[in-house]
Amino acid sequence: MKVIVIVVGALACSMSVLASSQYQQASRFVPHLAPRFAEHQASHKALVTRNDSGEKNFTHNEIFNLQKKFLDNFIAPNNAIQAKSINSSLLADDVQGRVDITRTFDGRELNTEYLFGLFANLVTSGTDPDAFSLLGIPTAYEITHFAASQNIASASTRFQFFFQAINATIPLQIQTWNVFNPAGEISMYDATFTGWWQWAVDLLLQTASQKLSVAEGKTVSLPETETYLQGKLATSICSTAQKYCVGPQLQQYQNASQCFNYLTTQTRFGEAYELGRNTVLCRMVHQNMVPIRPAVHCPHIGPSGGGYCVDTPSYADTVDANYFSNYKFAYGNGSLTG
Ligand SMILES: *[C@@H]1O[C@H](CO)[C@@H](O)[C@H](O)[C@H]1NC(C)=O
Ligand SMILES: *[C@@H]1O[C@H](CO)[C@@H](O)[C@H](O)[C@H]1NC(C)=O
Ligand SMILES: *[C@@H]1O[C@H](CO)[C@@H](O)[C@H](O)[C@H]1NC(C)=O
Ligand SMILES: *[C@@H]1O[C@H](CO)[C@@H](O)[C@H](O)[C@H]1NC(C)=O
Ligand SMILES: *[C@@H]1O[C@H](CO)[C@@H](O)[C@H](O)[C@H]1NC(C)=O
Ligand SMILES: *[C@@H]1O[C@H](CO)[C@@H](O)[C@H](O)[C@H]1NC(C)=O
Repeated sequence: MKVIVIVVGALACSMSVLASSQYQQASRFVPHLAPRFAEHQASHKALVTRNDSGEKNFTHNEIFNLQKKFLDNFIAPNNAIQAKSINSSLLADDVQGRVDITRTFDGRELNTEYLFGLFANLVTSGTDPDAFSLLGIPTAYEITHFAASQNIASASTRFQFFFQAINATIPLQIQTWNVFNPAGEISMYDATFTGWWQWAVDLLLQTASQKLSVAEGKTVSLPETETYLQGKLATSICSTAQKYCVGPQLQQYQNASQCFNYLTTQTRFGEAYELGRNTVLCRMVHQNMVPIRPAVHCPHIGPSGGGYCVDTPSYADTVDANYFSNYKFAYGNGSLTG
């Protein structure tokens, strides 16, 4: 069904391109936007340099080794060891991190949980028979692009993630900008999944659909697969909620069936980019952290989303945000402004 909708959309798009070719070149800008475009072109631009006072200049090899040290610890089972340390010595106390498909994360303890605890999948490796996740465990990596300057590393890394839910390993490419403080700890990181992420998620769902079809002996469509997975995830998240989020301060749902109902009928499954929005996929991410610090993470899997599984900020506010504040990073004051 999805495929058909996309094809129809592409046809409509190419028809409008044909239709617009009859207009003259001069009208290619929407009229009321044209003056603003001209204004933008004419505005003064000034280069403001990065303030790197108090930072250290590493050699290229030193930064490469720092990057490698982080990645070695990101791979299972080392990530579980880091997660158990609570405050990873690889991260600065005031580390700021952003991951495009989720959110922003402040401080060493929270980042230790999200960078290491999350992918160690501690919840699903436990003994709870209801535990279920679509997250993968990183098992290998290869740095495919790398450039370093002063204390910044820009890299692209191909990871192999094992997805227990479909019993398969899928490669994922992730791009990162990392900044290291003078102690060699990561003080800022900006991670983006490439455009292949959507394809990876689609592949995951298609593979699940195929495996389900084989198991059921009949065709299980993609929407049916999503419904099935949403039910499995809801059961897992609710089991975690009922086990760890107890007492008046932490309780999120009245009981397991109200929880299940909420997550299957009042919460959407989520798109590939919505792992930090009001979705079941977001609560799947956060269920992994609940056993570590229930007081902090219970609200994230509850109906409110606790500021992490919510539908704000908007797309534009997310992209326009200048999140990094520790000191000047690679935007704003390292670039042309005005
Ligand atoms: C640069 O950063 C240092 C340390 O954070 C600060 O003391 C100094 O005032 C900054 N300089 C400028 C020009 O902003
Ligand atoms: C680091 O290198 C930059 C660029 O060469 C230079 O401007 C800066 O003074 C150096 N900083 C230190 C602490 O050596
Ligand atoms: C981790 O760091 C936080 C903040 O610095 C601190 O409050 C907490 O006690 C630390 N936890 C451990 C186990 O070191
Ligand atoms: C997972 O896949 C491997 C082959 O890649 C197979 O040997 C194994 O039996 C599968 N496990 C399950 C539980 O299906
Ligand atoms: C669960 O909570 C809902 C909503 O309060 C209630 O209607 C239902 O009876 C409860 N179910 C059980 C088994 O306690
Ligand atoms: C860049 O510097 C200018 C002038 O010093 C300041 O007004 C602006 O807020 C800075 N921008 C960022 C993104 O830090």
